[in-house]
Amino acid sequence: MRFLITGGAGFIGSHLAERLVQRGDSVSVLDNLSTGSLENIEHLVDTGQVDFHLGSIQVPYAVEKLVDEADFVVHLAAALGVKLILEKPVESIETNVTGTQIVLEAAARNRTPVLIASTSEVYGKSNKIPFCEDDDVVLGPTRKSRWSYAASKMLDECLALSYWEEKQLPTIVVRFFNTVGPRQNARYGMVLPTFVQQALEEAPITIHGDGKQSRCFCDVRDTVEAVTKLIDAQAFGEVFNIGSTQEISIEDLAMLVRQRVDSRSQILYTPYDQAYGRGYEDVQRRVPSVDKLHGVTGFRPKITLPEIIDRTAAHLRSAMTEVI
Ligand SMILES: NC(=O)c1ccc[n+]([C@@H]2O[C@H](COP(=O)([O-])OP(=O)(O)OC[C@H]3O[C@@H](n4cnc5c(N)ncnc54)[C@H](O)[C@@H]3O)[C@@H](O)[C@H]2O)c1
Repeated sequence: MRFLITGGAGFIGSHLAERLVQRGDSVSVLDNLSTGSLENIEHLVDTGQVDFHLGSIQVPYAVEKLVDEADFVVHLAAALGVKLILEKPVESIETNVTGTQIVLEAAARNRTPVLIASTSEVYGKSNKIPFCEDDDVVLGPTRKSRWSYAASKMLDECLALSYWEEKQLPTIVVRFFNTVGPRQNARYGMVLPTFVQQALEEAPITIHGDGKQSRCFCDVRDTVEAVTKLIDAQAFGEVFNIGSTQEISIEDLAMLVRQRVDSRSQILYTPYDQAYGRGYEDVQRRVPSVDKLHGVTGFRPKITLPEIIDRTAAHLRSAMTEVI
């Protein structure tokens, strides 16, 4: 099959491109390299296994041309990362909403199936654990930019499901929970690579808030496995959580990272206000139910957290050596 991956030079996209190429599919990537990097897919582009196109999902004719050549579109391009969303809220909303609409509209012309990436952020502050796909969502007020990412992704989901209902465009929505692994960009405030980098540099590991908030970290290899299984299952018109169910508090994560990396870094606590500005709201617990994913594909993420940390550390160590 011929796939188009928007955002394919990014973290998840580059791993997905690798996986699809490995199993014999051909892959084109459309990416504006805003948070992604050509280095992530250089090995695939140089060997002619991936066709790279520099451009934005917000340019309809560029999107249409590439969608027309594809049998399946995986739409990952988005503005993301807490810092970026808070610093550039207008651009982020535009990328996530207008960009997705352009991709869906282009796909609808030939009913080319589309899988779109949403996020666990759409569950917001809900305290019904674990989060199930049909649960109510609890977002904060619109005056807090933090919620614009979740709201924009919710609108993407509504659009994708409406294209399926109204225009018979086959769409699948996946809600990624915290996904980690090599090539994830620490610059955008992703907690695990940030902690690992700090531990490797023997710099203080900085926890935002009291560290009692918890998350589940899923290895990107499990994530792309789940994505390919949903594509193969043709699970159209449905929403799926993709994430690990191993829950850990951020404070325990900092200690585990320090231990795995064998670092003497101090652990410091920074108030949210200082890290993200006044009135920042965090989500206390975020745990997915992956029963629906398992029901349709037979798959559950299985890579353990210590393994994920070791692999992230190995990757960051080799990146540090290259810089030296
Ligand atoms: N990584 C996670 O933990 C996580 C969690 C929830 C949801 N997601 C979603 O998964 C998707 C992939 O995320 P990622 O972690 O790989 O992030 P990433 O930043 O590495 O990838 C996003 C890619 O999209 C590209 N991009 C951004 N705007 C673009 C535009 N206008 N036109 C073309 N390309 C553009 C970036 O350059 C980048 O390569 C995103 O939709 C994100 O919202 C990721």
